[in-house]
Amino acid sequence: MQFLNTLVAHAIPWLPRALVQKISRRYIAGDDLAQAVARIRQLNAQGFSVTVDVLGETVATAQQAENTARAYQQVLHAIQHHGLDAGISVKPTALGLLLDRQECAQRLERLVASAAQRQTTVCIDMEDVRCTQLEIELFSQLTKHYGNISMALQAYLRRSYQDIEPLLRPGNSLRICKGIYREPPAHLVDAAGRDRSAINPHFLAHVARCLDTGTFVAIATHDAALLEQVVALVRSKRADPAQFEFQMLLGVCEPLRDRLLGMGFKVRIYVPYGKDWYGYSIRRMKENPRIAGHVARAMVGL
Ligand code: FDA
Repeated sequence: MQFLNTLVAHAIPWLPRALVQKISRRYIAGDDLAQAVARIRQLNAQGFSVTVDVLGETVATAQQAENTARAYQQVLHAIQHHGLDAGISVKPTALGLLLDRQECAQRLERLVASAAQRQTTVCIDMEDVRCTQLEIELFSQLTKHYGNISMALQAYLRRSYQDIEPLLRPGNSLRICKGIYREPPAHLVDAAGRDRSAINPHFLAHVARCLDTGTFVAIATHDAALLEQVVALVRSKRADPAQFEFQMLLGVCEPLRDRLLGMGFKVRIYVPYGKDWYGYSIRRMKENPRIAGHVARAMVGL
């Protein structure tokens, strides 16, 4: 079965778009903001907080970057208007990071200020290694003036051990994730390129540093074994529940997220929506160890 899943994962880019769209419904709230709002309401009613991702990555023009910023402003307005328990997650390349840093920083700051007025939060998603330093600088600059911003750090990168140190302090907020991009092995912690569980001790070390320094930490993983270790860690440290939360992607490992919520932990769901659903769905499908079954079921219903 594992062989079949690997085979299907390799074939995903060649699957018909209609089939990918059908499977993607589990991972994406919809094409437009109204659908996203409906999904966030459902999740809030179940007890989950949310962070909203407007789908889309690197943009080619300033106009596209402005469009992304406008879409996020609409999300912030909807969060306030509907009284949702939600913040936003933003990829700086979608705001033009690789076109013009200054303009990207201005767009991001306008979003953070607008979120602050609405008593909500902005998280900077961490992208590939071309962006790591730039995104850390964006974050460090913004934390001088705003308290409603956080940033993801990737445990698969060796450099995260250095990057995290100046960011650790009460009032700061970090999301620790394993990391999703294909990076040259020289950037990775040992064996991370071959074995995802090799990242776990590094992930745990970063979470522990956050807890020890009073830095708020969002623990973003679906790895059941790692989650068990994190739960043991927060218990052994008697960590204040206001100092951490768990985060998971929409549609991924739902029984696990329900279990964490049932244990009384705060859980936030990362909810993507938008017209640019294809690339995101392909990435999620490739990561799904049971993808063959999903494809087979979707084909039957096509
Ligand atoms: P791992 O990859 O080891 O997977 C553990 C287990 O989870 C798998 O064995 C499988 O059972 C299950 N699983 C994982 N993906 C699945 C899927 N699609 N369908 C079904 N089961 C699945 N990355 C990044 O580089 N920058 C960022 O800013 C973020 N932000 C972010 C926010 C949030 C809220 C989450 C949850 C994740 C991210 N990520 C990210 C992605 C992250 O780096 C990582 O690639 C994925 O979470 C998968 O890694 P896991 O930690 O889940 O472990």
